[in-house]
Amino acid sequence: MAMTARPDSSFLSTLPGRYYYDPAIYELEQERIFSQMWICAGRADTIAEPGAYQVVTIGRESVIIVRGRDGELRAFFNVCRHRGARLCTEATGHLKGSIQCRYHAWTYGLDGRLIGATNVLAHEEFDRTAYGLLPVALEIWEGFIWLNLTDNPPPIADQLHPVIIERFGSYTPFARYGVGNLKRGKTITYQLRANWKLVLENFMECYHCAPMHPELCDLLPGFRSGKSYANGDAARLADGAEAFTVTGKASRPPLPGLLAEDLRRYYGEVLLPNMLLNLFDDHVVVHTVWPEGPESSRVTCDWLFDPEVMSRPDFDPLDAVEIFDLVNRQDWEVCELTQLSMASKAYRSGGVYVPAERHIRAFADFICERLA
Ligand code: FES
Ligand SMILES: [Fe+2]
Repeated sequence: MAMTARPDSSFLSTLPGRYYYDPAIYELEQERIFSQMWICAGRADTIAEPGAYQVVTIGRESVIIVRGRDGELRAFFNVCRHRGARLCTEATGHLKGSIQCRYHAWTYGLDGRLIGATNVLAHEEFDRTAYGLLPVALEIWEGFIWLNLTDNPPPIADQLHPVIIERFGSYTPFARYGVGNLKRGKTITYQLRANWKLVLENFMECYHCAPMHPELCDLLPGFRSGKSYANGDAARLADGAEAFTVTGKASRPPLPGLLAEDLRRYYGEVLLPNMLLNLFDDHVVVHTVWPEGPESSRVTCDWLFDPEVMSRPDFDPLDAVEIFDLVNRQDWEVCELTQLSMASKAYRSGGVYVPAERHIRAFADFICERLA
């Protein structure tokens, strides 16, 4: 018999299946969520040298993130101010001091100023300052680039800090991890045939941990019961485990700012709309989730370590990478299995969150409110 979830029940309804494949809903999410909120665009040190750039797509917009000659990261709409041609067509690259449009060769400095426009720059009626590249708001938060497409974005702390404070009790315990000072030891990018919300919902619950992640549960046995930790509560390493590594052995010291009470703990948290944060005592793993269509996503996973430890000749991130890469692949498998059924008439009214997943309904409500 089908179970009907009522709001006062322990069993709440999921979103209907169409939320995970309908192009109209996807468009609306891009407009109301991704084009409104601060979006994580990955680690700032991936764009390291002056002239290095990365192009990202948010909603209908293509955005260039480029490091200037002065070392500053800036973001611009990837749109020539003359007749609108797209400027950078590669996902990443290196600019030699300027951005030149292929069409009529207007040229912009890495700071966005228009510095070249054949035959018109000296024209007395032409105000070159009015035709610089249009900026996109960019903030660096804990070493991550965040972008906001709106004209007057709120402070990024307004979006991120309440979530951190709710999770850790205050900002201080999170600050001890010094995420902004860590460096990338490894990055893996995954292509998924699954809607971005399935990735987030899967991350939010651990009801699937026992059947899907036996290796994870060996290291963090609390997950075997399906418990998702919240409000200052952290998962703890198994008695026999020294670290969250594929061997269970520690091959790095704890991160330098941590206290004794932080050791042997794991914190996972979602920073809406697209960052998944995983804190261990000797490294940090961060997923950046990019919707790429109603039924596809790209996830970039960065493994971050203390730069002092990384400078040691015997540094090897593999024991940390292997275990989370395994967990990632297990997760993506079930996200893709779920995606396959979203358009079935058997899922037209959605499914049910069991008590261990009940908190995900707040995410579903967030989506509904934004799209309303
Ligand atoms: S469209 Fe870019 S220079 Fe004309
Ligand atoms: Fe999982």
